[in-house]
Amino acid sequence: MAITSQILQTRGWRIKCSIGKVICILIGGLILGVVYVTEESTNRLVFGKAKSSLSSCNLFSGKWVYDDKSYPLYKDNHCSFMANLNGVSCERTGRIDSKYQHWRWQPHDCDLPRFDGMAMVERLRDKRVVFVGDSISRNQWASMVCLLDSSIPPPLKSMIANGSIITLKINEYNTSIQHYWAPYLVESNSDHPMLHNFSSEQILRVHEIEKHAKHWTDADILVFNTYMWWRRPKLKVLWGSFESPEKICEEVEMLRALEISLKTWSDWLEFHVNRTKTKIYFVSRSPTHERGEAWGKTKGENCYNETEPIFEEGYHGSESDPGLDHMLETTINRLKRRGLKIQTIDITQLSEYRKDAHTSIYQKQWNRITREQLANPKTYADCVNWCVPGVPDVWNELLYAYIFRSF
Ligand SMILES: *[C@@H]1O[C@H](CO)[C@@H](O)[C@H](O)[C@H]1NC(C)=O
Ligand SMILES: *[C@@H]1O[C@H](CO)[C@@H](O)[C@H](O)[C@H]1NC(C)=O
Ligand SMILES: *[C@@H]1O[C@H](CO)[C@@H](O)[C@H](O)[C@H]1NC(C)=O
Ligand SMILES: *[C@@H]1O[C@H](CO)[C@@H](O)[C@H](O)[C@H]1NC(C)=O
Ligand SMILES: *[C@@H]1O[C@H](CO)[C@@H](O)[C@H](O)[C@H]1NC(C)=O
Repeated sequence: MAITSQILQTRGWRIKCSIGKVICILIGGLILGVVYVTEESTNRLVFGKAKSSLSSCNLFSGKWVYDDKSYPLYKDNHCSFMANLNGVSCERTGRIDSKYQHWRWQPHDCDLPRFDGMAMVERLRDKRVVFVGDSISRNQWASMVCLLDSSIPPPLKSMIANGSIITLKINEYNTSIQHYWAPYLVESNSDHPMLHNFSSEQILRVHEIEKHAKHWTDADILVFNTYMWWRRPKLKVLWGSFESPEKICEEVEMLRALEISLKTWSDWLEFHVNRTKTKIYFVSRSPTHERGEAWGKTKGENCYNETEPIFEEGYHGSESDPGLDHMLETTINRLKRRGLKIQTIDITQLSEYRKDAHTSIYQKQWNRITREQLANPKTYADCVNWCVPGVPDVWNELLYAYIFRSF
């Protein structure tokens, strides 16, 4: 068997597609295929039943139930692309406790339909899905890649990184699942998918989105998020281009910059998106767990070393920005009134409970860890991004439910 290897390398990404391996898996896939055909019909039935109750059920209100039979939905080592997924695989980075992978989200009034990867790729045949946003959005995309990868018999699949876009292509279905890096949606100096700097000065071009949007306006499904990068009191706004010699920078309040940027974004959607073709989803704020005192730890502690969810019903941390939340909500409602099909995937409350599921110290480290940090790991724990498999899989189960239930 001829084995051709193709190595595609961009900054920070090293992607290897081995055709030989793919063929081996393909044979396995044929056997799996038989199982899937029989399983699919039963799943559909279950789904049919769930669907009727889904329309009246609030999927976002519920509780976490420990379920080590059905969860995780895939195993880390069954996801062929895990090595490329930007360090969200905590197991690979040394996390030993795995309880965080075994929780199921149980809405109060109905069951969430089980994610059926086969049904999903069928649904997405000849379609393009684009997740647009920041690292949380990339987290969700990575989870989607693994959910599909591990549940479909793999014909030729490939992962291609090109600039701000990274694509999982499922060739046999002509399906693309993409992530487009744009943490502010509009143009900014943090648009490089790898070389951006959260702590440095942020400069935005609040009226400019075309450079990004031309890559995704004709997608069939768009899944947006934006939040984390706005969490600072002021930002700089650039009038003119980054290259222009006469560029003028002005410091403005965050909410003002957000307001203009969201207008730019929603105007773009309103005028450029085909309403019959494109479904739009907006993923709400992903909570952070940086202040342990919010759930009874001593001050200075954070998500580091947490292994259990929070069980207090309605728990709400102290790390949100009500002004930001409100402005996002207003923008989405305005788009709805203007006839765009846009649905919010409200991940906020359910993720608030999951202080145990962040990548913490089990993440690819971009900067060198100093000796002081090593001695006190909580100082470099990431309490923003999430382990995969884990909470982002549930976000995708919610997205799945909405994709199947036309809204
Ligand atoms: C593949 O999907 C794209 C949309 O993502 C569509 O425009 C194109 O026609 C499809 N190609 C084939 C051969 O069906
Ligand atoms: C990368 O994207 C650019 C612009 O969208 C395109 O012209 C180029 O062909 C792409 N390269 C690859 C290798 O796909
Ligand atoms: C990020 O910004 C901070 C503060 O401006 C600076 O100290 C640091 O060197 C920057 N890092 C990179 C990689 O640019
Ligand atoms: C919008 O999408 C529908 C369904 O794909 C298509 O039939 C229609 O021609 C599109 N309209 C425009 C203006 O492109
Ligand atoms: C982590 O938590 C356990 C109890 O859950 C505790 O015994 C241990 O000391 C903690 N480790 C650190 C470094 O805080």
